[in-house]
Amino acid sequence: MADPIVYVEQRIAAAFAKVGGAAAVGVDTAVRASDRADAQVNGSLALAKAMGLKPHEVATKVLEVAEIKDICSDAQVAGPGFINLTFNNQFLARELMSSSASDKLGVRDATKPRKIVIDYSAPNVAKEMHVGHLRSTVIGDALVRMLMFVGNTVVRENHVGDWGTPFGMLIEHLVDSGETHAANELSVGDLDSFYRSARKKFDDSEPFQARARARVVLLQSGDKETLRLWKLLVAESTRYFQMIYRTLGVLLEGTDIMGESAYNALLPQVVERLGKLKMLTTSDGAEVVFAEGFVNRENQPLPLIIRKTDGGYNYATSDLACVIDRVERLNADLLLYVVGAPQAQHLQMVAAVAKQAGWLQAPREMVHVSFGNVLGADKKMLKTRSGDTVKLDALLTEAVERAAAAVSEKNPELSDAAKADIARIVGLGAVKYADLSTDRIKDYTFDWDRMLSFDGNTAPYLQYAHARICSIFRRANIKRASVRNFSPTISHAAERDLAMRVLQFDSALWDTIDKYSPHRLCTYLYDLAASFSSFYEQCPVLKAETETERDSRLMLCDLTARVMQTGLGVLGIEAPEQM
Ligand code: ARG
Repeated sequence: MADPIVYVEQRIAAAFAKVGGAAAVGVDTAVRASDRADAQVNGSLALAKAMGLKPHEVATKVLEVAEIKDICSDAQVAGPGFINLTFNNQFLARELMSSSASDKLGVRDATKPRKIVIDYSAPNVAKEMHVGHLRSTVIGDALVRMLMFVGNTVVRENHVGDWGTPFGMLIEHLVDSGETHAANELSVGDLDSFYRSARKKFDDSEPFQARARARVVLLQSGDKETLRLWKLLVAESTRYFQMIYRTLGVLLEGTDIMGESAYNALLPQVVERLGKLKMLTTSDGAEVVFAEGFVNRENQPLPLIIRKTDGGYNYATSDLACVIDRVERLNADLLLYVVGAPQAQHLQMVAAVAKQAGWLQAPREMVHVSFGNVLGADKKMLKTRSGDTVKLDALLTEAVERAAAAVSEKNPELSDAAKADIARIVGLGAVKYADLSTDRIKDYTFDWDRMLSFDGNTAPYLQYAHARICSIFRRANIKRASVRNFSPTISHAAERDLAMRVLQFDSALWDTIDKYSPHRLCTYLYDLAASFSSFYEQCPVLKAETETERDSRLMLCDLTARVMQTGLGVLGIEAPEQM
């Protein structure tokens, strides 16, 4: 544990309990960062009310019994009864040293590591992977990395859409265009034009429609030749998806694919088990479950369709099978779904039915990590100028090209190879960070200039702060590792501010994990970069007045760079040593 605030909070809570006894139960004794001192507690006001005393009196009593001498150099009652705390510099120094000595930079491990299945990315076969899938991929990748970092077991599942009625028309279109031609089109990522041509034929031609329908039946009955053609479609599309993942540098691999089709064998069981539980109702010829508490606009109970009139299964059926598989085969404690906001109701209904059926019992839980849309400059869904879906490989190429221009301008002396590498890291980092740094629930506007700017809450700004620290060491020819066990002396205010920030990495990361909200970590890293910047302006490092001061500052610089690199790392973003 590193964050001084978390530290002192425990001592303060104990003091409140001592003073208030039963009256202290439920009183908010949180310690918060403050402008007046390092931190402030205002629980005395609530406890005073509960005890019928004056807040000032309570605060004074709390301070009398609080065991904080080793942590705080000053503790004062202020105003009506606030407690202002100032941390002891030796305590901060000790915490910095322990942070520096740990690989995890002071971040606490999960007290109860969990087995977590995370469902993310999930593009659809033979359909362009769009910016929504990019969001899911980037947010999911960051969550995977941070959940693993604190010691959980994480299972990645890419629930690609590889089954269902559209495959009838897609396979018939494949037959018409010839396998080689179709494979070429799909493997280079012309997924949309393939899908659109199939769709157009389906809409325009009745004989084609009839063929498509017959093909669906063949597919579902396991016809060998049909399955071979289906596999071809899946293989070519997933090859394209994997290429995007590799470019993006996310952890997803081919072996993480658990598409809808993977649950086919379980579907009849879902129906059977729901039937046995007497949860199925026949409605308009379909078999449905009325999940408790879900109604439509007319206030009528809303059904979750399990089996359609034609006997086919539904998206919801495979998601129920999915829950069963994740709980019963994988024995997961937590099921995360990084899926866009429009599917909120679908996932809520699936969760409600799974709970009702007893497949998902507390403390096991299913969480929808929902996210908003990616918008263009016109505030509408991001599209190309011609109105098409933006192709992700083109988008990523453009990011790297734009970053290359910025990098050349900033640092023309670098070799071409170094420039290319940095451009890749900065360009991809910018795209990912723009996505991660806005609250995922909100829509965000895709804006090249803003995301690639070296100022503001952007990847290049954070990466630059890291590179600047690396260059201090490079210029002085000092090995980073050699300063790691120096004991810091904190004197200057900007130095102190940076030290406090560095020590908050632990609580910032945990706060992010608890809410599955990467933007919280981004805000922290941005504040860290800003603190570093003002430290560096005010506190000479290599030209420090004494050797002790220089060593102390070098230690603080190294630790800042490590926190920055690790923080960006769990977001899936690299930090180059120069840029
Ligand atoms: N393939 C779906 C889509 O593109 C997302 C699947 C999300 N995962 C799930 N288990 N339903 O919208």
